[in-house]
Amino acid sequence: MPANRAPLRLGLAGLGTVGIGVVKIVQGHAALITARAGRPVIITAVSARDATKNRDADLSGYAWETDPVALARRDDVDVFVEVMGGHEGPARLATEAALAAGKDVVTANKALLAHHGQSLAEAAEAAGRAIRFEAAVAGGIPVIKALTEGLAGNQMRRVMGVMNGTCNYILTRMQSAGLPYETVFEEARQLGYLEADPNLDVGGIDAGHKLSLLAAIAFGTRVDFDNVELEGIGNVSIDDITLAADMGYRIKLLGVAQMTGRGLEQRMTPCLVPADSPLGQLQGGTNMVVLEGDSVGQIVLRGAGAGMGPTASAVMGDVIDLARGNRLPVFGQPAASLLAAVPAKSATPAPYYLRMTLLDKPGALAKIATCLGEAGISIDQMRQINQPGAQDDRAIVLIVTHKATPADISFATAAFGKTGVMIDAPVAIRIESV
Ligand code: NAP
Ligand code: HSE
Repeated sequence: MPANRAPLRLGLAGLGTVGIGVVKIVQGHAALITARAGRPVIITAVSARDATKNRDADLSGYAWETDPVALARRDDVDVFVEVMGGHEGPARLATEAALAAGKDVVTANKALLAHHGQSLAEAAEAAGRAIRFEAAVAGGIPVIKALTEGLAGNQMRRVMGVMNGTCNYILTRMQSAGLPYETVFEEARQLGYLEADPNLDVGGIDAGHKLSLLAAIAFGTRVDFDNVELEGIGNVSIDDITLAADMGYRIKLLGVAQMTGRGLEQRMTPCLVPADSPLGQLQGGTNMVVLEGDSVGQIVLRGAGAGMGPTASAVMGDVIDLARGNRLPVFGQPAASLLAAVPAKSATPAPYYLRMTLLDKPGALAKIATCLGEAGISIDQMRQINQPGAQDDRAIVLIVTHKATPADISFATAAFGKTGVMIDAPVAIRIESV
């Protein structure tokens, strides 16, 4: 069949950070894109809420649609580019309308796919169209392409990573400046790093959306965001960041997905990682994804997880693939062949960091050690911290355990509470080796 040389026509819904980034690449790299795609890529029509807003881009050549659904159905649109956001409302309706009208879809919207990935993938296949979403996971890092194409011959073992730049910014800034969470959260807000609903970032939800999409591709399962174990960074204290650093660790909001004999484990939680590991060295808003396959071993991808340029770069990678005629199943295999994931609560053993404030009296530590022993947990390292100015009737004790299951740790920490020597609730943070 002769290659299609006609221009590929985009309908762009959303003219914010990502949408304007797409306009800039389409306008600024027209010749390069034509050469690589084998045909021109043009924007024919756009949509946003406010037609009067100054958007720092020349949109005069594009038709304006107030309704994204109408944009998605236009005859002069081949690919509907959804960069509005939100998992219901216009993003969902317009994406469904685009597929029903026989358009391919490119989206940066992880929330939409985390909630409706299966039904949208089925709708795309029924229409003989594609949904591409490189920009939805880890911004500019081409991790979806790596998993669906480059690593397609592997049985994936584990997928992990730092996938929310805002959380990584907050945690690394707390550590480097010695500032508490609340102060750095406010800084991040003023820098414009936080989503309109900050809990999407700091509650781990945005990163959980991304992990659930990677897990679907890696393990051939239906997207199962509802069973991602989520814990945000709001309870990570500067004390733990500092004490963990003294012991050679960094705290990261880390996602891990792995298929076990019991089912699919997916968790997005604060973890300690070795300070000298690739994840430990990740600074600021950067993302990192670690992919482990049976043949390839470990692959580490690192780069900007957000921002106009990186996210638009990912959108355009998808657009150019479609211009070349490359259509893949949304999650790397036909939607009907994706298995319903059997969710498994995290049970893979790992070492744990424990911090507790104890009454500083004879036998206190022995009681804690007994609780650990009775839970079958062995101590690897133990340290008592004498903080200058701290009350002398209390002691901060840090313990690093040998590998233990989350259930064993919960059993032990519940038992700590009955010893009569604990002053505050203990902190337990998993240590992941990378
Ligand atoms: P944004 O700057 O807030 O822009 C959203 C755009 O969508 C705005 O132009 C807005 O119009 C338009 N919009 C919102 N609701 C609409 C509606 N009902 N009808 C028509 N237009 C509507 O958002 P963004 O940062 O570009 O993010 C867009 C998507 O990309 C989201 O799904 C986000 O999660 C994802 N993403 C963003 C980044 C990033 O770094 N920003 C990275 C990865 C993925 P007005 O301008 O008129 O208000
Ligand atoms: N809020 C997200 C982040 C934007 O901080 O990583 C990119 O998805």
